[in-house]
Amino acid sequence: MTTQSTATGTIRRPPAGLALRAPAVRIAKGHAGSGFLAAYPDYVTTARLDELRAAEYPYLDSRGHVYLDYAGAGLAADAQLRVHAGRMRGRCFGNPHSENPASRASTVLIEQARDAVLRYFNASADEYAVIFTPNATGACRLVGEAYPFWHQPRLVLTADNHNAVHGLREFARSHGAAVSYVRFSPADLRVTDTDISAALGRGALQHGESPGRNRRRGLFAYPAQSNFSGVQHPLAWVDQAQAAGWDVLLDAAAFVPTSRLDLGAVKPEFVTLSWYKMFGYPTGIGCLLARRDALARLRRPWFSGGTVWGASVQGGFHRLADDETAFEDGTVNFLSIPDVTNGLAWISGIGIDLIHRRVGYLTGWLLGCLARLKHGNGAPLVRLYGPADGEARGGTVAFNFLDPNGALVDERAVARDAGAAGISVRTGCFCNPGAWEQAFGLTGQVVRGTRWRAFPPPNVPTVDDYLKLIGLPIGGAVRVSLGLASDIRDVERFLDFAERTYRDQEPDGHELPPRLRCLRAGARVCFRS
Ligand SMILES: Cc1ncc(COP(=O)(O)O)c(C=O)c1O
Repeated sequence: MTTQSTATGTIRRPPAGLALRAPAVRIAKGHAGSGFLAAYPDYVTTARLDELRAAEYPYLDSRGHVYLDYAGAGLAADAQLRVHAGRMRGRCFGNPHSENPASRASTVLIEQARDAVLRYFNASADEYAVIFTPNATGACRLVGEAYPFWHQPRLVLTADNHNAVHGLREFARSHGAAVSYVRFSPADLRVTDTDISAALGRGALQHGESPGRNRRRGLFAYPAQSNFSGVQHPLAWVDQAQAAGWDVLLDAAAFVPTSRLDLGAVKPEFVTLSWYKMFGYPTGIGCLLARRDALARLRRPWFSGGTVWGASVQGGFHRLADDETAFEDGTVNFLSIPDVTNGLAWISGIGIDLIHRRVGYLTGWLLGCLARLKHGNGAPLVRLYGPADGEARGGTVAFNFLDPNGALVDERAVARDAGAAGISVRTGCFCNPGAWEQAFGLTGQVVRGTRWRAFPPPNVPTVDDYLKLIGLPIGGAVRVSLGLASDIRDVERFLDFAERTYRDQEPDGHELPPRLRCLRAGARVCFRS
């Protein structure tokens, strides 16, 4: 291993020449070994990631753990933890809201982290500000609570969004703004160009008008990658929406861990993400990348420590700081923000395009194998949600198992069985109620109809009661998601598990824990949209 000095310590750089060695690709015998390399011969060019997995993510194989929840959280390399520990042991860091040496040491590293973020996304400091938040949700909230919905009274959302983005509608509504959704195409959970054009075009500027301050229509928010289906929605929508007079919030949380986002090429007004999804550590830090011109149009509803140029009690006034710190409430996570610099150095050293290719090969193979799984009577073992091939998608695959009679296998049983087999997958609706409703064929009539009006509690106290009311036999899907440290053995073990556990079996649905509320049960189920 070679070493790389970073501003915040020394991070072990992935060995540069590994891809040139005799391929060290790890393929076990069994399900995939025979056909995988024939189908994806270029997988061997990603062998460097096998070496890194062994050296830097040893806790996976030493515990025999199959981790398939990268859309939930990425994993930390040993190198990241060593750099953190070295920095903490090396000197003293103080609260950055001060001028003493310990404080200045923190401030220097925070500013270096901002620079590293801009460099990584190819954004210029003149154009974009980097605001550290607790997570992607916190970044969405900053925009939602300060966006001038009173001047630009429209919010357009894709139905495919995480709840972090759906929540924007409550800010919009509280200012009387109109909220509308762009629907999915049921076949593959993509959104058609026609539907996007219709949604954005309705507010289009007249010929010759420029999208100046008073001509803006409102905010359009969508995910670069669906956390439910893995669909990568076109980045070209950013330009299209802006040309029609919209500000754009691009939720990049699920996209950036395995795909390149180049802010020199597409320039959304706002980009939101969580760092732990990208490189596992640190948790508790996200980011709002905001175009400075758009940031200047936001109106913060309050002020707090760290955000002000000055405030007065007797004068009853405050003036916000004139840089990004105006949006960073209180004391930022100054001991961990430098780890963002290291995480980005780690990903850059490996190469995001290499990660993207590897995850693409594994996803293509997984999709093909799942589609081919059959019961002895010829009935399919899996119902897939989203695109069936690897085109324009990330490494997230959502599906349900089916029993030999075609009935859906309870997602709580899958969580239980996979856990017992040492496999981490996610089950439920993944806080993406729009995708869940579409995947399970729930119409607006059902969720808004008379049965919905029986809600909320005490008439419908639990999620199980709600599912009964809307006539759903189960509470959600199964999600397998792949990432930086995934290898073919993970995919193979999951496929073996699937076949062994569900082929020609009536699944054991006894003693499953009740679904009490969103995210609080044996399985995770979201029910409010
Ligand atoms: C696409 C997407 N957006 C936003 C979020 C919210 O991220 P966080 O919970 O870190 O704020 C998630 C989390 O899973 C996500 O997948």
